[in-house]
Amino acid sequence: MSFQRVHPLEALKKNPFVLAPMAGITDHAFRSFMKALDAGVVVTELVSSHGIQYKSERTMSLMSYDETQRPLGIQLFGEEPEIVAHAAQVAEAHGADFIDLNFGCPVPKVVKKGAGSAMLKDLPAMRRMLSATVKAVQIPVTIKIRTGWDASLRNAIDVCKLAGDEGITWVAIHGRTRAQGYSGLADWDYITEVKVQSPIPVLGNGDIHTAQQAVDRLKSSGCDGVLIGRGCLKNPFLFFDAYRIWSGQSLSRKQNRQFSEVFRRLYDYLQLHCQPHLVGIQLKKFAAWYSTGYPGASQFRKEIFQTQDVHQTLEKTLSFFDSISVYDQDDTSQENFLMGGHG
Ligand SMILES: Cc1cc2nc3c(=O)[nH]c(=O)nc-3n(C[C@H](O)[C@H](O)[C@H](O)COP(=O)(O)O)c2cc1C
Repeated sequence: MSFQRVHPLEALKKNPFVLAPMAGITDHAFRSFMKALDAGVVVTELVSSHGIQYKSERTMSLMSYDETQRPLGIQLFGEEPEIVAHAAQVAEAHGADFIDLNFGCPVPKVVKKGAGSAMLKDLPAMRRMLSATVKAVQIPVTIKIRTGWDASLRNAIDVCKLAGDEGITWVAIHGRTRAQGYSGLADWDYITEVKVQSPIPVLGNGDIHTAQQAVDRLKSSGCDGVLIGRGCLKNPFLFFDAYRIWSGQSLSRKQNRQFSEVFRRLYDYLQLHCQPHLVGIQLKKFAAWYSTGYPGASQFRKEIFQTQDVHQTLEKTLSFFDSISVYDQDDTSQENFLMGGHG
């Protein structure tokens, strides 16, 4: 089958704001939703190369997408180069625009096997995997890493050089070491240093909470793009605004802050692309996140989590969002929020 593929670097030049992969969140529905709200590039959550090898139904479902999402990266993880390379071929045949390899996952189950961020401790093994994967496919291959394994092994610069040798298209860096997990702050000074020394494009990532911050981080780090994860779970307009600030367009705020209309769109995407029994759960999750920092949010959350019926959840949420404007949102960036994940 032939696909109308879009090269991720071309897309990045037009819009450098990338939706970070998030397990259990950046599924088909959410990627389409964020793409419609101006994310430049989207990536699936991490997909197990072994799962692809065994044709696991659940694994294969993680790669579901539609044409509106291009360019779409399918993120793979694994420890054996041949199995990852084979999984990359399957993802390519499935229509991915690029393959993203996960070298950032700090989760013990993954690291114990030598996959995810464990590769940061074994650059020869990483090289073998990059070489095998780049050879196996025609589409671009990117990687996502952390700054290093721990404070004594911050080797993102070496990784970028190695990745450049192996024909990798970009390196995305979550600005924390594996040892830090999600504690502390992402180290953008180090990301900036890596960008200066890297022979290939670098994308910075970590703790971007507002559109202005996204644009400022992009400019001050000199990175070729930025990845935004948790920030867009509190503010669905983050990409929309960042793209407009970056491209010099005005933000006609009131006109574009149709929270309830946007939430209805999310509901439509969930209905189209989510398993029916999950629609209600997802809807509550997003309603709770998006209400963060608005007056009455905690009472609203209590109410929707008691609701059993999807339509009731939707109605309650729409009426809550009808009553707010973006100007009311408190700064909640210092609160702990989703302090764990696969990258
Ligand atoms: C719930 C959750 C799941 C995540 N899953 C993945 C994943 O599947 N693959 C990956 O590379 N990173 C994953 N991450 C890491 C994010 O892509 C990102 O690097 C991290 O959240 C820091 O960026 P942020 O501060 O903008 O959220 C996950 C993060 C969270 C919070």
